[in-house]
Amino acid sequence: MNPSCRISLNTALLNHYIDDKALTALQPRVNEIVSSLFNKTCAGNDFLGWIDLPMTIQKELPRIRETARRIHEQADHLVCIGIGGSYLGAKSAIEFLADPFTGNRRVLFFGQNISAEYSESLLQYILQKQVCVNVISKSGTTTEPAIAFRLIRNTLAKKYSENELKKRIYATTDRARGVMRHITDEQGYESFIIEDDIGGRFSVLSPVGLLPIAAAGYDIDALVAGAADMAQFCRDNRNVLENPALTYAAARFSLYQQGKLVEILSSFEPSFTFLGEWWKQLFGESEGKDLKGIYPTSANLTTDLHSLGQFMQEGRRLVFETFLMLQQVGSRLVIPDDPANSDQLNFISGRTIDDVNRQAFLGTKFAHYAGDLPNMTMTIPLRNEYVLGQLYYLFEFAVAVSGLLLGVNPFNQPGVEAYKQNMFALLGKPEYEAKRLELQRQIDQEGTAA
Ligand code: PA5
Repeated sequence: MNPSCRISLNTALLNHYIDDKALTALQPRVNEIVSSLFNKTCAGNDFLGWIDLPMTIQKELPRIRETARRIHEQADHLVCIGIGGSYLGAKSAIEFLADPFTGNRRVLFFGQNISAEYSESLLQYILQKQVCVNVISKSGTTTEPAIAFRLIRNTLAKKYSENELKKRIYATTDRARGVMRHITDEQGYESFIIEDDIGGRFSVLSPVGLLPIAAAGYDIDALVAGAADMAQFCRDNRNVLENPALTYAAARFSLYQQGKLVEILSSFEPSFTFLGEWWKQLFGESEGKDLKGIYPTSANLTTDLHSLGQFMQEGRRLVFETFLMLQQVGSRLVIPDDPANSDQLNFISGRTIDDVNRQAFLGTKFAHYAGDLPNMTMTIPLRNEYVLGQLYYLFEFAVAVSGLLLGVNPFNQPGVEAYKQNMFALLGKPEYEAKRLELQRQIDQEGTAA
């Protein structure tokens, strides 16, 4: 890995809680866990396809690139339908890589909520556009994307012939099972496979993430190369003080043992916002089970210092913070001088905005440290595909180790079924009648039905 493009982690400001000795004490357990991941003997070992994905996906890249090129020819917009792991990877990558203000205008997302206003607005908008659809669902039975897919087919049928519509729909789904596979085969959509051993939150480097990212115009070869380099690094370097994925996992676990139950992922770049959303799913779904886990949340600074800042500085001390800091910023914007100095800002005239942002970061991290909010800093050298690929893999590897240190299976998500069962019952899905009656009784008792 090119050292100038390498992600690093500084844990110095955790020093009231953790030092190198404490991290090193976890090395034997980390060694066992890393071996169990590579030997595929750990809990959840039927969901370890992500470990070698940056290597195994290489053979798929030409077809993904070619499909993205065809989508460009066919359409000015690609609507990606999916939720959770079938949404956040692509969304986070595109937001990370896009211009922070003008953003990405080609790839739209649908089926990640059930908002009537969002749905209607999107359907109205696409009627005026040339559109392709990438429906992404491993199971095909997830309610939100299933509704969105039905709506979009219905809308686009007003615009395209049946045959033309089929050529504009690309499915990313299971190889053999599920409703979406069935529809795909029946309709003859071009399709990409989500392998059985890759869970949704670990799927960004599969066609789930790569097709939308390529369609948005980004370099998926560089993204996968970054992930592959980090994967190799994680195989080669198992030292808890040298491998940032392991340092991060061990530090989090040690903080958790000392009562730090909430982690804030803070960044000073708006383009990192959805990376925070992706990270929350990865860590929340992987660790939050068996009444264990660190609650992951994120903050956009300095914005949120004007809302969450008070709690961060002086609230209940159950939080630690991980800063994601961009090192090389693509702007030299300078604060102009004002001879009148009516706003009294001339003390920073001539300084770059980035320099001011950096001073805000340093000021914040030392204020938080002084306020007993332990924090670490992950440095992201550049905002490009190669670095992002590294970062995805680093976090995936870290959460696997971190979840296994906690003693949970990091690769399942049994808890996400509960709301779905209730929703199915309330919507009258046939086999949920008993549950519907029980819920109705609770709703009547509570007296606040919407
Ligand atoms: O991590 C997960 O497994 C979930 O977030 C799923 O990705 C999400 O529920 C979507 O599932 P599906 O792809 O089956 O529609």
